[in-house]
Amino acid sequence: MMNTPIGIFDSGYGGLTVFRSIADRLPQYNYIYLGDNARSPYGDHSFDTIYRYTLECVEWLFAQGCELVILACNTASAKALRTIQQKDLPFKYPGKRVLGVIRPTAEVIGDFTANKTVGVMGTRGTINSQSYLLEINKFFSDIKVHQQSCPMWVPLIENNEHLQSGADFFINEYCDQLMQQSEAIDCVLLACTHYPLLLPKLKTVFPDYINILTQGEIVATSLVSYLERHPEMEGKLGRGGTRAFYTSGDPQTFDERASIFFGEELKSGKM
Ligand code: DGL
Repeated sequence: MMNTPIGIFDSGYGGLTVFRSIADRLPQYNYIYLGDNARSPYGDHSFDTIYRYTLECVEWLFAQGCELVILACNTASAKALRTIQQKDLPFKYPGKRVLGVIRPTAEVIGDFTANKTVGVMGTRGTINSQSYLLEINKFFSDIKVHQQSCPMWVPLIENNEHLQSGADFFINEYCDQLMQQSEAIDCVLLACTHYPLLLPKLKTVFPDYINILTQGEIVATSLVSYLERHPEMEGKLGRGGTRAFYTSGDPQTFDERASIFFGEELKSGKM
């Protein structure tokens, strides 16, 4: 019996917040996480670069035996997923699947906004791609989407400076810029898998009536439903609850920082 893990990919550490929810929800499967820390953050890179980096990482996960890979990264989901699904998989890897985090989030966002007005915060790559605008309006044509890119947040988080007082300027600035776009916003989507680490601060910055939405639970629920609808994929997955972690960067540094995202100590290997 093959090990056949589910692959989980992010540019760096952020995907670990999604992996946490997936592993809690579906502990029976084997998993392999890959963070492309050597080349992160992805947020400001061009479409071509993000596509190339993401494809390389997905192909590496396939080479480790994955049949299913989750891009637990909004930037990669926005900039690379569609091309990989349409151009690469059918010809080079028929039967293998790559799923992202944008569609599952867009599908359910209507449940979290009474005013039908949502603020989306993400990297420049995610925001400039307009992916959330397009995907949300596919499912909810009556929801108004306001977007705010937050280019300083991932570097602050990756350097573990996000909860220091020095980070407050950039946290307040992007939140203010978003809220100035509309008084009707009652739901703020953290459309970057790093941002859940900012929750303690964001809860003090946004008024209480704002629903601050993170993606871990949403993506985990969507994966449960995907596997129920796709027994041909579910049947291929190895069971045993193993979890392996890899980084394209320095494993020691990864291990030091990863636990604040994953909620437990872990040991990684070099990609
Ligand atoms: N965590 C990633 C996301 O969800 C992006 C971080 C980066 O800029 O590399 O968008």
